[in-house]
Amino acid sequence: MTAIPHDGATEAARQIIHHHAVLRRGLEQRTGALCGAAGSGAPFGRPLADLRAYLDAEILPHAGAEERTLYQAAASQARGSELVRALVAEHRDLAGLVARLQGPAEGAEAAWTAESIATLFAAHAAKENDLLLPALLSSGADLAGLLTDMQTALAAGPAAAGEGC
Ligand SMILES: [Fe+2]
Ligand SMILES: [Fe+2]
Repeated sequence: MTAIPHDGATEAARQIIHHHAVLRRGLEQRTGALCGAAGSGAPFGRPLADLRAYLDAEILPHAGAEERTLYQAAASQARGSELVRALVAEHRDLAGLVARLQGPAEGAEAAWTAESIATLFAAHAAKENDLLLPALLSSGADLAGLLTDMQTALAAGPAAAGEGC
């Protein structure tokens, strides 16, 4: 994510939606490479390692950072506790699937797990775009400030971003 000018909550929401799209495409591309190799019987160690690295470097830290910023604000300011509980549960489901990709795997199993991760992430990010962000916007939460906090947590590394996802 790039640093944002303080143009207001709507611009912050646009940047979050854009970043979700970037993450979704990054995940789909790597999942496609893994599934293509595994499906054709080609060596899939490299695309699997690439996918694992992307999950560890981008997807999991993103989830951890938003739990500490957007989710906390939604629960406390936007009466979004129920939605936040559901989103946190999806982070845990994602983490469970990611854990399955660690260690040795058959190609078909790794491909199936990767597709499950990509599908879950796409639906999850859509929920954040369509439900979480509007709730935060309508509550008057300082979305630009929250995005800055999220970027700071991500820049500081996994510990600051939280265990999340
Ligand atoms: Fe999330
Ligand atoms: Fe997200």
